[in-house]
Amino acid sequence: MEPIKTERVAASPLALPELPIRPARLEDVGSIHRLLKHYSDRDILLPRPEGDIFHSLREFKVVEWNGKIIACCALQIFTRDLGEVRSLAVAPEHAGLGFGRRLVGVIEQEARQIGLSKLMALTYEVRFFSKSGFEVVEMNVLPEKVWGACINCHKFRNCDEIAVLKTLSP
Ligand SMILES: CC(C)(COP(=O)(O)OP(=O)(O)OC[C@H]1O[C@@H](n2cnc3c(N)ncnc32)[C@H](O)[C@@H]1OP(=O)(O)O)[C@@H](O)C(=O)NCCC(=O)NCCS
Repeated sequence: MEPIKTERVAASPLALPELPIRPARLEDVGSIHRLLKHYSDRDILLPRPEGDIFHSLREFKVVEWNGKIIACCALQIFTRDLGEVRSLAVAPEHAGLGFGRRLVGVIEQEARQIGLSKLMALTYEVRFFSKSGFEVVEMNVLPEKVWGACINCHKFRNCDEIAVLKTLSP
């Protein structure tokens, strides 16, 4: 007998990595905020207020499953050349399934399409980023970032995040 097809097919761990990455919508803001807060409460990501997510919503790509955002990432433009991979988070129960790598790939593709030539991130996850072709750089290689945004960060005087950079081929 044919197996009964139900929505549970999509819940299988094997099917999860196939979930599409899509632009964020207004109704995702609360779910994105909760996901980011999970990590900012643990000092792994910088806190991002809900209002900031609303303002920057068009920068976000998300993965949705069962009405919940399980992974997200944003591309922020800094200068004519430089963009930042920001607010990258994968829900812990869905880590290790390739969502992080796919999100960075989509952000990279978008960065190329709009003409950026460099992409950076500030992170504790250097090994993850190096697997996507990023290299560790000194923070002072990124003056736009340091002086433009970091100056407002509570970690500015003793930042322990590591800067990684990727030069994008056209
Ligand atoms: C870092 C993070 C985004 C990775 O997402 P993920 O979906 O679990 O990662 P992927 O499954 O796409 O992994 C891609 C590769 O990186 C490796 N990787 C992922 N996390 C790693 C880690 N912490 N240390 C070493 N390697 C790691 C994977 O093993 C995989 O390697 P492989 O190709 O050899 O199998 C996720 O763990 C996360 O949300 N962390 C907390 C928030 C954070 O630190 N965000 C980055 C801030 S810029």
